Parts: sequence; structure tokens; C-alpha cells
Amino acid sequence: MQSSDKKYEILRMLKEKYPDAVSGEELSRRFNISRTAIWKYINSLKSEGYVLEASSRVGYRLIDSSIYNGCEIESRLETDIIGKKVVYFEKIDSTNNYAKKIAMENGQEGLVIVAGSQSQGRGRLGRVWDSPEGSGIYFSVILRPPMPPEDIQVITLAAAVAVSRAIEKATGIKPGIKWPNDLLLDGRKVCGILTEMNSEIDRVNFIVLGIGINYLRQKEDFPGELAKTATSLTAYAAENGLGIKEAGRLLLICDVLTELDHVYRDILAGGTEAILKKWKDYSVTLGREVKVISASGEFHAFAEDITQDGKLVVKCSDGSRRMVQSGEVSIR
Ligand code: BTN
Repeated sequence: MQSSDKKYEILRMLKEKYPDAVSGEELSRRFNISRTAIWKYINSLKSEGYVLEASSRVGYRLIDSSIYNGCEIESRLETDIIGKKVVYFEKIDSTNNYAKKIAMENGQEGLVIVAGSQSQGRGRLGRVWDSPEGSGIYFSVILRPPMPPEDIQVITLAAAVAVSRAIEKATGIKPGIKWPNDLLLDGRKVCGILTEMNSEIDRVNFIVLGIGINYLRQKEDFPGELAKTATSLTAYAAENGLGIKEAGRLLLICDVLTELDHVYRDILAGGTEAILKKWKDYSVTLGREVKVISASGEFHAFAEDITQDGKLVVKCSDGSRRMVQSGEVSIR
């Protein structure tokens, strides 16, 4: 057993015994190490933020384990595919970069990479995703859907549905989805999803689903243009006088991963139609005049529907219809 494994085994035992204490002697016997070694592991857990009580009479007792890290996220999940293993970094360049590297090395489906902050968080269309410490949820999931590459858009739409449901459930705030997968609150972005794919012509090797949620951030903390275009759950709640159901990052990310697991399993079981129906329920794009900005240029149109494979169907001013597969849509 590696020393970090031992540390988390000790933590697991303290959790099992909670609210009771475990004596140093019992821990030492169970893990076959000295009481001094146990004491060092306990101190190391404390430095990670766990609140533990130590007394020479009764031993060690866990008081609070609501820490935002891989072990706590993993232990709260009861998912089938997503989050069986969760890796946490205090700081990383980009969770998508790391997940892609691991996926190339055969990383397992469902592996989740979470970061406390990102120095080079990436957004869609080559943009930057501002990822300061403590104020957001930043993670990526490796998926290996047995699908042709052209069907992948549905997974991105499903991810937007999953995050919307989790946010609504955890905070009571209902986001709107702007096609394909931006989550908005009163027109300002609270969550973005970056899906990256590695595929052959007819087969997906893996996709990395990267999700960033602005959680605890005041309006004035957003730099430059973002102050006008972005918001966070707490900023939105404060502006609207809402008593946000205080979810905490730990519970919110667990809810998001649980919902993601549901929608992903639904898709694998052929339940795409139900997902698209839910997407439409959250949509703030359909039924609106939009400006489409795609590689082939910009045009104005009316957003009518989405196709089974997630393309946006728009009606142009000359009455013709176009399917938009990628690019950016702004609501007019
Ligand atoms: C967008 O709306 O432009 C997509 C933003 C995606 C941001 C997330 S944060 C976690 C993951 N790692 C990244 O570098 N990007 C995604």
C-alpha cells in the first residue's frame, strides 16, 4: 500500500466509525504501522482541510470531511460510469489537456479530472476560460461512446441538460441553454462546455467533455468584457435577492456528475429523443431571432428547432432553412 493510500484508508475507517472515535492503538494495529506514523497521517489529513479531533483518551474522530477533493467527490458518488475514479489537482494548466493525455494513454472511460484552478483554461473557438482559485468548478470527463463522430453533438447537448438539472436541483436557479451548450442566467454565461474528440472516420476513440461553472464569484471579480457577459450562481442570486440554496462546490459537482451519468447512460441506451426534449425545455434559443456566426460567414435567421443529431435548424429571411452544425449563435 502506498503511503497516500494508507492515509485515505485511515480516513475511510474514521468515516465508517463516525461519529465515534477510533483509538490510535486500533488504527496502528489495523494498518500495521506505529502510532507515530498514524499521528503523521492524521496531521497530513488536517493540512488538507479535514477537521479531526484528537484526544489521548479516546483517539481520533472525524468532525468534518466536506473538502473539495477527488477522494470526497468519489466517495459521494453512486454512479455507474462517470466518476468511478476522480483525480484532483489544486492547480493545473487545463483539465481538458490532462484528460486528453490520459485518454491517449488508454485512460478509462468515466475518469474525471477536477481542478481547484486552471492557469490555461480553454473555451470553445480558441477562447480563454478564466479559472481562478476557489470560485469555480472546473473538470473534464473521458468518454468512449460507441458512436460515429457525427453523432457526438448529442452528448454535448446532453451535458448541458445534465448541468442545468444539477444547478436547478442544488440551488433552485433554472439556467437557460443557448445552442449548443452555453448555460445562461438572464443572458449572461454561468457555464461553458468544451467537447474535444479523437476519432477515426467512422469511430470515436474518445471524447473529453470539459465543463466550467462560475460558482462563487462577485460581479466585480470578472475581468474586462466578462463583467458584462458572464455571471456566477452567487452573483446572480445576490442580484435577484434569492436565498440561494447553499450547495457548496462539493455537493454541486457531485450532483452534476450524477446527472451526467444519467444522461450518458440514457444516450447509450438509445434515449436521445428524451434528452433532446429536455434540452428544448431549457432552451433560450428556439423561437428567437438569432445571429449565426459560422466559418462560412454571419447571417440573421429564426431558430426553429434542433435535429435528432443536435444541429440547429434556422429559417432565413428568404424562407429557406439551414442547418447549423458548429459556430456561435447570439440571441437578438
Ligand atoms: C466555453 O464555453 O467556451 C467552454 C468552456 C469550458 C471550460 C472548461 S473548464 C474545465 C475544462 N478545462 C478547460 O480548459 N476547459 C474546460
